[in-house]
This record gives sequence, structure tokens and C-alpha cells, in this order.
Amino acid sequence: MRDASDQADALYERVRHVIPSVEWPVLAGDIAAILELKRRQNAVILAHNYQTPEIFHCVADIVGDSLALARRAMAVNADTILLAGVHFMAETAKLLNPDKTVLIPDLKAGCSLAEAISPEDVRGLRARHPGVPVVTYVNTSAAVKAESDICCTSGNARAVVESLGVPRVIMIPDEYLAQNVAKDTDVEIVSWRGHCEVHERFAARDIRELREAYPGVTVLAHPECPPDVVAEADFAGSTAAMSDYVAHRGPRRVALMTECSMSDNVAVAHPEVEFVRPCNLCPHMKRITLAGLRDALEHNRHEVTVEPRMAERARRAVERMLAV
Ligand code: 13P
Ligand code: SF4
Repeated sequence: MRDASDQADALYERVRHVIPSVEWPVLAGDIAAILELKRRQNAVILAHNYQTPEIFHCVADIVGDSLALARRAMAVNADTILLAGVHFMAETAKLLNPDKTVLIPDLKAGCSLAEAISPEDVRGLRARHPGVPVVTYVNTSAAVKAESDICCTSGNARAVVESLGVPRVIMIPDEYLAQNVAKDTDVEIVSWRGHCEVHERFAARDIRELREAYPGVTVLAHPECPPDVVAEADFAGSTAAMSDYVAHRGPRRVALMTECSMSDNVAVAHPEVEFVRPCNLCPHMKRITLAGLRDALEHNRHEVTVEPRMAERARRAVERMLAV
């Protein structure tokens, strides 16, 4: 435990830019315990870019956007995968690792997009559009993935749509992602009415006001934002693409139209960049805490399982995406 606690103290150097020193002693105890539990239980933590900096930078083994987490989940060498993210991410990790134990600290960490569509809805869409393939955003339940031809993420949506070589696809459930992809491709896209409750709240007006208040600001938007927001931004891309933009294009002042922790996590690696924060919190991502991660490892809960026959069909759609 001594080693883990020394390690936890050393980690503060990495995050001091975004975590006030008064908060650190409370976090350090949980961090040390989690590092020790991971070692003892041969567990790895996968964390999405929207996790808070103490999770993202101090206890996670693998971090990234939904696509990176799915790809890296395929090659995990551990007995247990603990997901610091939302439920569909844990399900995807389980689909790709049927023999491993997959845990999530809070089973209620859902997603408004995953809630927006059911397997029956997908069957209804197929009946209305016979022969048109179904491209399903990973932000869905395994039951919906099982009804789909192929999955996509915000990082590969256009490539997946075009990989099918057809004139028309059904793209579910994010209406705005579908509209944003439709602008960049000749493939006709039939969309659904799902929205991300975090990104739908941004407005094009917010960006115009930001540009006035912060001259020279570079605005990056997630493609789950409404199309007029994306049109007003300087760049649109997945959370990984936004992070890469900051790393490689070196903007001086940046606004990320996305979840709040994203700016904190990118700021850790780029203290020289000024982050303007017009962000929205994702209540589902924020259900995951250090205390919850520690509890999950201590009590081996909450296990995420997928019924084997459904898992086989859902896995096919995810693997087909990963092959694109
Ligand atoms: P990406 O990390 O794939 O861009 O997705 C964002 C998101 O909202 C995940 O919940
Ligand atoms: Fe779902 Fe939006 Fe939260 Fe991502 S940010 S988990 S898409 S509600």
C-alpha cells in the first residue's frame, strides 16, 4: 500500500493545473487504493474522455473516445475490465471480451441516445425501408446493435456509411450526427429522432457570442451538436479528433463545444492553451466517481453481461465496424 500511496502523491504533479491542492488529500486515498486493487485483481480501467481528471489521468490504463475504447478493449490482457464511462461502453467491452469480467461502478450510467431507440423501432424502420442497411451509433444498447448491420462512432461515421457501397442507409439513433454526416457524403441518410442531451443544448448563437467575448478563439464542436452549431464551429470531430486538433494545430485559445471534463483533460497536456469553457455536464458520465471505482473493485460489482445469442449478433455489427 505504501508504494501505491507514493505513486498517488507523485500523480498530483500531472493534474495540479486542473485539481486544486485542497481537494487532493481526499482523492489521493482512493487513488492509492484503486492502484493497489487493480494490481491484486489483474484489472484494467478503461476511461472515456469525459471522465474527470482524477480518473482519466490518475487511475485509468486506457483512455480515449468510443472508437479507441472499443479497439483497445479487443486487446486487453487482464481478468477484469472496469469501465469508467457509460453502460453502452461497458456492454461493448463485454461483447469484445465475452470471457472476461466487465464491471461498471453504476448501472444507472446511461445515455439519452441509447434510450432513444428500441429493437422494435429498428425492426419498424427496416419494414418501412426494405433492403436499406442499418448503421448504428455505438451509443445504443446491445439489443439494438443486434438488430443492426454495422456500428459506427463519431470518429468513423462517414467512412462506415461509405464502406457499404449503397446509395441509401438508415443511420440511428442520433439525428444530428446523421445530418452532419449527410452534409459530407453523397449517400442518402434516413435518420431517427434521438439526441444527446448534452450536445443538443449548444446553440449557434453561443458560438457567435463566444467569438465576440474571446477574440481569436478556435471553436471545436462534437458532431452530436445540431448542424447549425457544427457549421458555426472551426472544426467538428469526435472527442479524440478534438484532442488531436489541440495537440497538432496548436491554437492559443480554444472552446470545446462538448462535455465539461474534456477541456480539463486536454488542458493537463496543454497548460499553454487557454480553454474557454462553455461546456455542459453529462449527468450519466458524472455518475462515475473515484469512490465508485474503488467500491466496484473492492466488491466486484456491478457486472455487465449480455445474453449470449444477442451478444453474438451485436458483436458482428461492432466487429464489422472495427474492420472498416
Ligand atoms: P466520442 O468519444 O466517440 O466522440 O463520443 C462522445 C460521446 O458522447 C460518448 O458518450
Ligand atoms: Fe450519451 Fe451525450 Fe452523455 Fe455521451 S454525452 S453519454 S452521448 S448523453
